[in-house]
Parts: sequence; C-alpha cells; structure tokens
Amino acid sequence: MSELYSITEKIISKGKGILAADESTGTMTKRLDAVNVQSTPENRLLFRETLLSSESMVDCIGGVILYDETIKQIASNKKTIPELISSSGAVPGIKVDTGAKVLANSKNEKITEGLDGLRERLKSYYELGARFTKWRGVYIISDKCPSKLAIHSNAHALARYAALVQESGMVPIIEPEVLMDGDHSSEDCLKITSEVLKKCYDELILNKVDLKGTILKPNMILPGIHSKEKIESKKIAEFTIKCLAQSVPSEVPGVAFLSGGQTEEEATENLNEINKLNKTNFTITYSYGRALQQSALKFWSKNIKDISGTQNIFNHRAKMCSLAAQGKWTEEIENKH
Ligand code: G3H
Repeated sequence: MSELYSITEKIISKGKGILAADESTGTMTKRLDAVNVQSTPENRLLFRETLLSSESMVDCIGGVILYDETIKQIASNKKTIPELISSSGAVPGIKVDTGAKVLANSKNEKITEGLDGLRERLKSYYELGARFTKWRGVYIISDKCPSKLAIHSNAHALARYAALVQESGMVPIIEPEVLMDGDHSSEDCLKITSEVLKKCYDELILNKVDLKGTILKPNMILPGIHSKEKIESKKIAEFTIKCLAQSVPSEVPGVAFLSGGQTEEEATENLNEINKLNKTNFTITYSYGRALQQSALKFWSKNIKDISGTQNIFNHRAKMCSLAAQGKWTEEIENKH
C-alpha cells in the first residue's frame, strides 16, 4: 500500500495538479470540430504531445489522465506517451470506465459501465506505464433526480472499480460528478453533492478500499448554469469546503476538482478561494480538462505548427492553476500574461 501513498503524493503535492487529457475520441472530435480541425489520430496526438512537452509539466502537472488511444501512441521523439509524461516527473494515468449509459428503470439518468473485464484491462494499462486511473459517475439535479437508484448504483460501481484498481497496484481517482446542467440553486447542489459523496464513501468502505491510496475528483458547489442565482467565489468556496468536511472521510489525502464547464478563469479563481479557506486535512488541487486546455486548443487550431506559442498559453494556464492550488493566485498575476 505504501507504493500507492507515494504515487498519490507525487500527483498532488507541491502545488501540482492533474491534466485531464482523457477525452474519448467522440468528445475530442467535438472539441476539434468546434475549432475546425480534423479529428484524426495524428492531430489528436499532435495537440496532446504539444502540451505534454511543455515546460510547465515539470512544476505544475503531477499526473496526466490519458484515453486508451493516447496511452498506446508514440511521440515524435520515439518515446511512448507514458514515457514522455514520466520524463517530466509526472505520473501517467488512464480513464478506465467505458462511458455512462442509460440507467435501466430511470431513463433520464446514467450508470457508468466498464466493470466487465476490468481486472485484465488494468493489467495491460499497468504494463503500458499507467500508475493511476479514473472512473466518472454522472448525476443530474432535477425535481426527481438524482434518484436513490442512480446514487446507489454509481456508488457501487465506483467502489468495485476502486477495489480492483488498488489490487492492480494503481491509485483510483473517484469521480462522482454532479452536473452543472439545470436551474438548481447552489444550496441544492450542496445538499445533493453531499448525499452523493456520502454514499460513495459508504460503498468504498464496504469494499475495503484503502482511502489513503485514493484521490477524490468532485464538482465544486455551484448553482446550475440556467439558474438566475448570482454567487461569489467566496460563497462557492464556503459551500464547497462545507460539503467536503461533512461528507469525505479525513483519511482521503487529496481532492482534485473537475472544471465541469466553468471558464478557465472561474475554475482558477474558485479553486484559489477554496484553498484560501481550506482548514481540512485534504490537499486541494485541480484535475481540469477544459479549464487547462481551452485557450491552448483555440490558439493551436489556428497555428498548428506554432508549438512554442501553444505551449506558452498552456504554461500560463497551468501556472495559474498551480498558484490557485496554493491559494496564491491573484487577478493581477493572471492579467500580466
Ligand atoms: O471527467 C471529466 C474530465 O476529466 C474533467 O474535465 O475539467 O473539462 O470538466 P473538465
């Protein structure tokens, strides 16, 4: 188990966080279509390799979550992608769920699949260099949702996944994401996220998962995107810390938030406020997809050959997130770039 603790420490300590570059081919195609770049394996690799060779990988990125296609690709310097990541001191990780499908008997909700054959897939990902994994459960907030069934089924799957991952010598990231979609209030988000997290930990404990060798990847506490509620960053931080303190066992070493549709700056400012307020034992950091990559992707799409220009943008974003993970970000530093 001590091996798992040191992997966890390496990923989230010293102001480092996670680059979630694990978009499935379908999701990456949507992102590339939006910026008019053809979604080929070569273009997907080119963008990801550009980020993974950036200077900020050394100080700001402790782990990178990959998708099945990317973990098997070879970089232009002939290193495998996991080797390229390890060469900067970061830990290669892999998304191992196979996606969220319609939940039987509750057709508006989803259950994440991927448990069948997981033990064997984990073995091959370990051989490819992965040392941590990700599984995402999704929950919607509406009049009747999330249902008890969705809360229970996703917690059960997350716990069975986590137990298998630790058995294979890797650190599981537990990602129960309560989506921002909808017009719910921040109070609703607080209540539901707390209920979801508590159920996840009940199941993780039942499955004898060693919580000290896990990382939680939750949503921040925010009003729905269609809500009229105006909320300040300080209030988001207060609710988010309250949620963690009341629902997450203190042995959990780290919490790495997803950005979930926030802008790059919102995700940075909110993380910074959370860290300024944090009196818990948890190391609190980022595991951002869009909030680390959006501006870099936009620039790259128009300047595919400009590697250093793309890397400059990514480096700035990663640096801002790293400062926020230490509660040291300011708007002034943000705008100096
Ligand atoms: O599962 C979600 C991703 O790993 C995080 O992506 O930061 O764009 O929400 P996001």
